[in-house]
This record gives sequence, C-alpha cells and structure tokens, in this order.
Amino acid sequence: MLTLTVENDFEDWREKARALLLAGISPAGIIWEEPGQRGLFETDRPLPPPTTAPAPRVSREFLSLAETIAHHCSAGRWALLYRTLWRLTLGGESNLLKRTTDPDVSRLFRMRKEISRDIHKMHAFVRFKKTGENPETGRERFMAWFEPDHRIMPLTAKFFQKRFTGMDWAIFTPTGSASWDGKELRHGPGVDKVEVPEEKLDELWRGYYKSIFNPARLKVKAMQAEMPKKYWHNLPESDLIESLISGSRHRVQGMHKEHLRPTTSGGKNPYLKHLRKLTSQDNNSVFIPDDHIGKPLDDLRELATCCQACPLHQAATGTVFGEGPDDAEIMLVGEQPGDQEDLLGRPFVGPAGQLLDRFLAEAGIDRKTCYVTNAVKHFKFTPRGKERLHQSPNPDEISRCKPWLVGELLEVKPRTLILFGSTAARSLIDPNFKITRLRGIVPDTGLAEKVIATVHPSYLLRLRDTPQREVEEALFLKDLQLAR
Ligand code: URA
Repeated sequence: MLTLTVENDFEDWREKARALLLAGISPAGIIWEEPGQRGLFETDRPLPPPTTAPAPRVSREFLSLAETIAHHCSAGRWALLYRTLWRLTLGGESNLLKRTTDPDVSRLFRMRKEISRDIHKMHAFVRFKKTGENPETGRERFMAWFEPDHRIMPLTAKFFQKRFTGMDWAIFTPTGSASWDGKELRHGPGVDKVEVPEEKLDELWRGYYKSIFNPARLKVKAMQAEMPKKYWHNLPESDLIESLISGSRHRVQGMHKEHLRPTTSGGKNPYLKHLRKLTSQDNNSVFIPDDHIGKPLDDLRELATCCQACPLHQAATGTVFGEGPDDAEIMLVGEQPGDQEDLLGRPFVGPAGQLLDRFLAEAGIDRKTCYVTNAVKHFKFTPRGKERLHQSPNPDEISRCKPWLVGELLEVKPRTLILFGSTAARSLIDPNFKITRLRGIVPDTGLAEKVIATVHPSYLLRLRDTPQREVEEALFLKDLQLAR
C-alpha cells in the first residue's frame, strides 16, 4: 500500500497521479492523505521513478472538473479523482463522465455543485470594512473575513478584483487569503480568524439590503440555506432579517392577490416538442442535463444559480433569472441583465426597465402580470474606472444560456411572447434575425400563439432627445399594443 500526501494543490495531485498511472498502480493500492494527517511512524513510500513515457490522455472536461474538485473540503477528493482518472484511462471507460448515474460521477458532479454554491455565497456575502488608507497608494483600504465551506478563495479572488478594482482590499478565510492593491492580486495562506474593525460601512450595507429585500421571494428555509446563520455575524444587515421576515407575510399576501390569476394554459404545452428540439440542437445537454428542462420554475431558478455554462458567471454578481407569475399570459424577453439588474438580482429594474414599465403601462399591460426575463442570465461588461460598461453577448454565450430561457418558456407557456432586441430573437428564432427586417408579429415560430419582435428599450434610451426617438417610441408602443 502506498500512502501519499497532497499539499491541497491540484498540480501536486496531478503530478503524483500521472506518475502512478504510468506505473500502472491501481487506486486500490493507494491511500491519499491531507498534510498533517500522518501518524508519527509512517512515511511515504517513494513514488515510482519519473519516466518520459507519455501519460494516457484525458479529456479537458475531466481536467477542468478535477481542478474544481481540488477546492472541495472533502478529504476523499484525491482518491475519488484518481479512481475516476484510472477508470477513464487504463480502465477503458472513456465515456464514464456521461454516465451521470454512476456513483463516482454523480458524487463528482454533486461536489462541483457544492463548490459553485459556495462561490455564489461568497460573491454575495463578503462584507468589506474600511480599515484606513494605504500610505503607499493613498487609496482607501478595506478588509473582509469570510468562512466558506470549501477552499474557494483562489476561485473567487478575480471576481473581487474586477468588482472592487478601485480600492485596496484583503479577504481572509480559514483556508486562504487574497489581496489587491490596484496592481497585483496576491494569494496567501489561510488564517484562523480576523477581527475586522467596526466601521460606518455597516450602515451602507443595511440601507442597501433593506432596499433590495423582496418579500415575494422570501422563503425562510431557502433563505437560511442560502445564507446560513454562520454568516450572519459578518453581515451588518443580519439584525434586520428577523424583523423583515416577520413583517413580510402580510405584504406577500397582498402581492399574491394582486398578481395571481387562475391558470389558463394548464395541461401539456403544445410547443413542448419543438422547444425540446431547440435545446438539443444546441447540444448544451452536457451543461444542463435534459431532465432539468421542464421542472418547475423554482427548480430551474435554483439550478441556474450555479450555471457555469459560459465564462460570464466569473465576473457577474450572480445569475439574474426571470420573475413574474408562472402562469403569465405574456412573457417579455430582453437581452441580458445590466449593471443594476446584476446588483439587485432582478431583470429590467434599471433605466431600460423603467422606460419599459412606462410603455407597458401606456399600452395597457400590467407588468406585474407578465413574466419578465432575458436571453442571457449573467451581466457581460468591461470595467472602465468605477463603471461597468455593457457588452453584447456573443452567439456562443447566447446559445449556452438558451436552455434556461427555453425552460422558462416551457413552464410559463405564455400565449404571447415579446422579444426585445435582436439577442432575444436570435436566441429563440434564428441566429441571423434582424429586427430591421422582421418586426412586429413573427409568424410560424412554434413558440407561442403570438410572437412579437421589437426593438430593445435601451435602443430608445440611446436615441436621447433626437426627433427619431419620437418616431421610434410610437412604433414601440404600437408593437406592445399588438401584444395586448
Ligand atoms: N436590458 C435587458 O435586456 N435586460 C435587463 O434586464 C436590463 C436591461
């Protein structure tokens, strides 16, 4: 039996795994250990001597999965990874990762999901506190302490670098730390616990949290799972949570009465076959297994929080899923969340959303009765100073996000579908769709009884006060009236 210690590091595991594989040592003959686990009299037996022979090839999919799993806190991860590697290569099971019911594969995927959730929580719940000024740069300095479930500091540091690029900060966790000084992102060891000094910044977070608190989305159990109590002591807003929860039921009942109508569509969706075809054409099932399509909206929403089908999740705050009654007769689809939508986690709440609300009201459509969503669920932007400038999603990003949109369509089954801008129409109808060529009712899409393609409200915003804007606004209103 060979006992090996891996220094919590993917590269270290990879090197050792490669040598073992080349020497043909089976997983049953190895004990993988964490540093410090070793008994007093035990020592490593030396690894097989290095060889120049090429190691058996493995797919990128496995390597990327393994690199993520290396950040899991489970002590069994190295053994599980080596067993999977062995089965994929010398074991002759090259399609193993497609067999999602295999116990090893399903465990690996579950671990990846746990890491994704942990990353999402860290993005949402790190709270910086001001600790003074950096004498070298003259910039304000901030610190945060956070306790993730897994070793995810290296996976999240870039997100904070992009988001808080204008300030100097350091984040400490028990298993790693990171700091940014405007020029260099540094990684360091973990620390036991850092007492971050109290600061006025708390007040800002409290104000922000109160303003985004949405009682209709409140599910106490889900919220406590999402924001476990262990994080609460680091959150300045935590003492507001109990009172907001208790005050929310009444508000929610009022909102339900206002929003919900009896289901009109019910039964099987006549477009189901067509929609399924749309998703399979894109061959995205590797990211989102087929059996997730068609589950209730809450399931989809929950699953989408972990979506990593394209790189946009890396810089965005989180997934912005659609919202509205799940039996809405009208579904509105935009391009992607903007800056404000990204921060608040809700579609169409920024300037374009406010303009849209005005036109919907003018057209006699109550937004609260519509299901509102986007073709792409993460904000794509380039940082410019403190601002984040919108960038349009590319065809690959649109297609990777499409299963979520189709899933929403399958669940809501709207009678009328309104597509704002070319991205939405390209996602669902035709990758070359041009609003300038086909505007208004689009025939024979098979997506809903009535499908309307029109310009995006942000196009109207970009026209500012030009005479053209008046003309365009009138056309936009006409398109919305078609829907009603
Ligand atoms: N633009 C969109 O397309 N969607 C939003 O949610 C906001 C702006």
